[in-house]
Amino acid sequence: MSLSLEKILIVEDEPIVRNLLTEILTRRKCIVRSAPTLAEAEALLSTDSFDMMLLDLRLPDGDGQRFLERVTAMPEHPLVVMITGYGTVESAVACMRAGAFDYVLKPFSPSQIDIILKKAQAYSQLLQVNRYLSNPEEAEDGGLVGRSPAMQRMRQMIERVAPTDATVLITGESGTGKEMIARELYRASQRRGHPFIKVNCAAISENLIESEFFGHERGAFTGATERREGRFELANQGTLLLDEVSEIPLNLQAKLLRVLQEREFERVGGNRTIKVNVRLLATSNRDLLSYVEKGEFRQDLYYRLNVFPIPVPALRERGDDLLILAEHFLKRCARKHGIKVNGFADSARAMLAGYRWPGNVREMQNTIERAVILTESGRPVTSAALGLPGDFSAFLPPAPPEPEILTAPTPVTVSARTVTDEAGGVLTIAILEKQAIQAALLQTKSNRTQAAALLGISIRTLRNKLQEYRTAGSPLEAELDSNES
Ligand SMILES: Nc1ncnc2c1ncn2[C@@H]1O[C@H](COP(=O)(O)OP(=O)(O)OP(=O)(O)O)[C@@H](O)[C@H]1O
Ligand SMILES: [Mg+2]
Repeated sequence: MSLSLEKILIVEDEPIVRNLLTEILTRRKCIVRSAPTLAEAEALLSTDSFDMMLLDLRLPDGDGQRFLERVTAMPEHPLVVMITGYGTVESAVACMRAGAFDYVLKPFSPSQIDIILKKAQAYSQLLQVNRYLSNPEEAEDGGLVGRSPAMQRMRQMIERVAPTDATVLITGESGTGKEMIARELYRASQRRGHPFIKVNCAAISENLIESEFFGHERGAFTGATERREGRFELANQGTLLLDEVSEIPLNLQAKLLRVLQEREFERVGGNRTIKVNVRLLATSNRDLLSYVEKGEFRQDLYYRLNVFPIPVPALRERGDDLLILAEHFLKRCARKHGIKVNGFADSARAMLAGYRWPGNVREMQNTIERAVILTESGRPVTSAALGLPGDFSAFLPPAPPEPEILTAPTPVTVSARTVTDEAGGVLTIAILEKQAIQAALLQTKSNRTQAAALLGISIRTLRNKLQEYRTAGSPLEAELDSNES
């Protein structure tokens, strides 16, 4: 006990009941405060935060139900369990309707309190997990699509390692499906009934990352107005995904290593050691070993993470899967947008097969979605609708040209023309880099996550670059009205 139900307030005027509850809960390692009146309870609630409150229905200075209604209207209120005597069950039921979590009848046994604690524990963990589950668009997905030997090997690996508690390091280019594989591992694991928590190590600002991982105590730093559990605690009994693990700052890597070795840590601003039982998965689209060589990633941490490596092949290395995936996305997008699409035209197939797909499956998914929107109902998707840069005639079967319908907005790419300036001089790498970033932001409508994926860099790197431009007094146009993503 004590992970998400740590502090409990007992509001009860009968000393015998109050002491009994205090004893039971203290033995379950909870921190217990008690109040014999509503006034005292109110005072405690205003200065401290509680995870659960046991509340008597009748108190000398007022009515428990009224107090319950006030408490549940507070933003971060404790779970409330009503304590009721014989003859007041009806009001207990009314309290349930008013937002009480449960009720317990006097007299009660310690085991009844245990049952309530267990239930409340599970419930509050679910609540917390819900708050963090942020990616609804991926939830609708089926499983991994593809039958290529590379995919089959990967499925075998997933099957083998999923049921174990081994740490898995999933590596591959951006957009290859690493996160999806992590979800598959979780789904096929024995922990699937428990939380699956993801931390995107690249998207959290450096000064918050420690508190995201390990949580903080109230008052640990400016703005820490409440105690907050970190992702390690939320993932207890379950699985924690460290997404883009290469982006963890060096100073935090040591702390992470300790959790991996000892499965224990302290919250920021706290000194109580918290033990957790967590299975770890990590992804990286960077070459972690080269980070190790450069001294940017701890070698010992690397070995701890790399217990079972799953390298994910790039889309262009998956042979026929390319077209199988394309058909899959075509069907899905057509359904989503209510457009009847008549497959791919030959030119489109040639383009799909010949393109390099630097952004892998994600790029393909986005390209096809855009193409479907550009395609008239009943017509096939053409190469013009796909609008990928390059010459794909070598991939075309000999056939007469088909009628083209709509042309995709020209994706901004760095071509030979943009490598030289107007006078024909060669541009510096810095300028080319800025142009590429500009192009990626334009193409992704300033979605930084997607832009970084297109560019093959981490979000952190992209963010640093944008910051550099702003500091230098020449922010990117495409970035001006962007929203953080
Ligand atoms: N084999 C697959 N079958 C179906 N959909 C896939 C497959 N692989 C990837 N996808 C889809 O492609 C998109 C990108 O996948 P995902 O987010 O897992 O990539 P990633 O490797 O984590 O990328 P990044 O390194 O940029 O974080 C997701 O929408 C995912 O659902
Ligand atoms: Mg990812």
